[in-house]
Amino acid sequence: MTKFKTLSTLLFLAICTLCCKQEVQKTTSSISSPSKEIEIDFSLLQKGIPSYVVKYKNKKVIDTSTLGFTLKDQINLSEGFEILETKIRSKNEDWEMPWGEQRVVQNHYNEIVVLLKETQAPNRLLNLYFRAYDDGVAFRYEFPKQEGLNEVIILDENSQFNLTDNHTTWWIPGDWDIYEHLYTESSFTDIDALSKRGHKALAQSNIPENAVNTPVTMRTQDGLHLSFHEANLTDYSGMTLKVDKENLMMTSELVGSDRLGYKVKRTLPFSSPWRTIHISKDAAGLIASNLIVNLNEPNKLGNVDWFTPMKYVGIWWEMHLNKSSWDLKSGKHGATTENAKKHIDFAAQNNIGGVLVEGWNTGWEHWIGFEDREGVFDFVTPYPDYDLEGVAAYAKEKGVQIIMHHETSAAPRTYDQQLDTAYALMNKLDIRSVKTGYVGKIIPKGEFHHGQWMVNHYRRVLETAAKYNIAINAHEPIKATGIRRTYPNAISREGLRGQEFNAWAPDGGNPPNHLSTIAFTRMLAGPIDFTPGVFNIKMDPYRSENQINTTLAQQLALYVVIYSPIQMACDLLENYENQPAFQFIRDVGVDWEQTKVLNGEVGDFVTIARQERKTGNWFVGSITDENKRDITINFDFLEKDKKYEAIIYKDGEDADWNDNPTSIQMENKEITNTSVEKFSLAAGGGLAISIKEKE
Ligand code: NOJ
Ligand code: CA
Repeated sequence: MTKFKTLSTLLFLAICTLCCKQEVQKTTSSISSPSKEIEIDFSLLQKGIPSYVVKYKNKKVIDTSTLGFTLKDQINLSEGFEILETKIRSKNEDWEMPWGEQRVVQNHYNEIVVLLKETQAPNRLLNLYFRAYDDGVAFRYEFPKQEGLNEVIILDENSQFNLTDNHTTWWIPGDWDIYEHLYTESSFTDIDALSKRGHKALAQSNIPENAVNTPVTMRTQDGLHLSFHEANLTDYSGMTLKVDKENLMMTSELVGSDRLGYKVKRTLPFSSPWRTIHISKDAAGLIASNLIVNLNEPNKLGNVDWFTPMKYVGIWWEMHLNKSSWDLKSGKHGATTENAKKHIDFAAQNNIGGVLVEGWNTGWEHWIGFEDREGVFDFVTPYPDYDLEGVAAYAKEKGVQIIMHHETSAAPRTYDQQLDTAYALMNKLDIRSVKTGYVGKIIPKGEFHHGQWMVNHYRRVLETAAKYNIAINAHEPIKATGIRRTYPNAISREGLRGQEFNAWAPDGGNPPNHLSTIAFTRMLAGPIDFTPGVFNIKMDPYRSENQINTTLAQQLALYVVIYSPIQMACDLLENYENQPAFQFIRDVGVDWEQTKVLNGEVGDFVTIARQERKTGNWFVGSITDENKRDITINFDFLEKDKKYEAIIYKDGEDADWNDNPTSIQMENKEITNTSVEKFSLAAGGGLAISIKEKE
C-alpha cells in the first residue's frame, strides 16, 4: 500500500512537472495601455508555443491563452517557435469621422510586434501584433513574405481566450448564416448555442456547434465588463468563439466553406483580422469605446460629402404588416409611382431626407422559398407600375433622396454580374445609397453568409459602389468590424433582430429587454439600421396578433440610443398624422459632434446624450427593459452659463409596454448645465429629450 502510494505520488509529481513545464515561460514581453491599467504579456511557452495573458489593474482577466493555426497539407503552425525580434511602438493620433458618433476620435495605444520563426524545418515565419488601448486590447497574426511558403489553407485558427471565472454572458449562437437571434443572458457555463437551432422565422441558419457569435459581452464578479469581437475582417472568414465550459475557455472557430472544404485560403503576405477584447470598469464604457474603428485603416475614399446622414421613410413597413407586397402579381403591389410620390411629399414636409422604395424591380414573384434564385432579380428593370426615372426626378425636385433597394435573395453571383450596370443607373439618377439584402441560403450551396467567400463579396460590393459614389446599407450582412473607417460608404447594416421581427415573428417579436441588450453587444460593432419609430404599437388592423414590445416614448429614444447615420421613421405615414410626439422625429439629429453615455447596465437600461454636428443641439435617449425605473440625468454636459429649451417626451404615468404603450407626455422646460432631473421610465419604456440653446 505504502509502496503504491509512493509510486503514485512520484507519478503525480512527474505529471505535474510535465504540465508545469508546458506552463514555464521562456520569454516574456509586456506592454501596458497609456493609462497603465491594462497590460498584455506575451510569452513563448516551453515547447515554443506563443501565448498571451491580459491583466486589468494587475489582475488577470485573460489567463494564459495559446495562439496558432491548423493548416491543410502542412505541419500546424502552433509550436516550435523562437523569437527573432520584439519591437515596441506607440501611437497617439486624432482622426476625423466624416460622419459618426463623434467628429474627432483619439487613437492612442502601445504595441508589441513579435517576429517568430520555427526552430526546425520548414522554419516558417509568423509575426504577432498586440495592442493595448485604454478601452481594451487586440492582437492579430501576420504571415510575412517568406521563401518556400506562398499560400496557406487554414483549416482552423486556434486563438484561445482563457476566462478567469464563470462570467455572466450575453450571447447569440455562432450561426454561420445569420445574426438575427435574440441575446440570451446566462453564465458562461450555461451557454447552449445548439438550443437555438431550427428558428422558425429564419430563412437561413447554420449552427454547427456550441459556439457564440461576436460581439459577445461579459460581466465579471467584480463588475468589470468585457466584450469579444474582431476588427478589420478582410479576405478572411468571420470568427465565432467555441465554448469549452469545463476549462472556461473560448477558442476561435472560423466560419467554413463546405463547398471548398476549408476556412480561409490566402496568398502571403497577409494579416488576419484583429481579435479584440473591450475592457471597461462599467457597462457605459463599452459603448463609449472606439476600439473597433481605431483598429482599421484610415479612410481610403477621401471626401464622401456626396453622402448625407439622414432620416428616411419608405415603402417598407407596409410589406411587413402584409398591407402591401413587394410582388406585382400579389395584386397589392406597394412600390407604385403614386405611393412613392406620397412618401416624397411627406419627407419634404417633415425634415426627413430620404425615401426607401422596396419592391420596385422585377423578380419578387420568385423570391422566398425558391431554390433556383440565380438570375431572378434584375436591378435595373422596374415593374410597369413604377416610373423609376419619374420618381427620381420628382424626389430631386423636392430635395429628397431616393434610397435604392437591391434584394439579392442570397444569389451573390447574380448581383456581382449586375453591380456595374446597377450602380451606373443609380449614378445617372443621382441615387446615392442602396439597401442590399441577402435573404435565404447562399447560392452556391455550401457557402455561408459569414465565410471568406461572402466576406469578399460584401467587400467587392462596397468597393464597386464607392467608385460610383454610392453608399451601402446591407441587410443580412457580414458583421460590422469597423470597415466604415476605411470605406465610409459602409453607412449602416442590419445584422441583428430588427424591428421587422415585431411584425411577424412567431415567437412574439423582440422582448422589452432587446434593445438595452443590443446597445452593449451588437452596437459595439458599428451602426445599426434598426428602423425605429412605430407609433401604432399594436399594429391594428394588420398584425393585431402581434405588437411592438416597447412604449411609444422608447420608440423615440431609439433615435438617440441606437446609432446609425441613416434612421428610418418606419411606420405607415398615416400613423404619424396628428401625432404631436412626431415632432421629436422631425427634430432629432443623425450626425454627431460628440456622444456621452450617461449610464447603463447590460440588458437593463441605458441613457445616451449626443450633440448634433451642424446645429450644436443636444438629444438624449434613455430606454429600460421590462422593469420600470427612475433615472437621474445630470445635464453637466451642456455649456456653462447658457440657457437651453428642452422638449421632454416621456412615458405617461400609466404607460406600460403591454397595457398602455402609447401613453406619452410632452413637456417644455428650461435647463442649464447645473440642472439635475429625475425621470420615471415605464416598464418597456423610454425617454427622449431635444435640447436647443435659447436665443
Ligand atoms: C430582409 C430585410 O431585413 C428587410 O428589411 C427587407 O424588407 C426584406 N429582406 C426584403 O428585402
Ligand atoms: Ca433581415
